[in-house]
Amino acid sequence: MVPPLGRRKALGLLAAASVLPVACGTPAPMPPPEPFEVGPVGDFTAPVWRFFFNREVVVARDARGFFAMTAVCTHQRCLVRPRELPGLCMPPVEDASNTTGELCCHCHGSVYNGQGTPVTGPSTRPLAHFRVTIEDGRVRVHPGEPVAADARAAP
Ligand code: FES
Repeated sequence: MVPPLGRRKALGLLAAASVLPVACGTPAPMPPPEPFEVGPVGDFTAPVWRFFFNREVVVARDARGFFAMTAVCTHQRCLVRPRELPGLCMPPVEDASNTTGELCCHCHGSVYNGQGTPVTGPSTRPLAHFRVTIEDGRVRVHPGEPVAADARAAP
């Protein structure tokens, strides 16, 4: 027979459960499909991965060119962010960036490599990539147009 929960223990469990959604935040929406600019080519010195909080995307430039990925974790849709140091996600601020490409999700600890492939779970699915174009020297992301992870836009 399972002993009944004491009042104090039951309240403690309820309090812990109510903190979880706050700690992880509201699930992030997918980026709106309309194309948008993220700045001039010169603002991206390779290698760099930049987090655009208000657009829910990560825009990167590596040796082969520009690419963009959703910043929405494939586990339970929190926002991933550049990883600052092992075990430390950057705060969710506009234009956080790093040069390693490691992305992390503060909700349950998933880590993605610079191509958006999960290297530490619980996430098992890669981040979706979007087409990037360079127009008049400016970087433009097209969230409504999925592309392969190895697609690049050359400056
Ligand atoms: S939502 Fe990202 S690890 Fe759970």
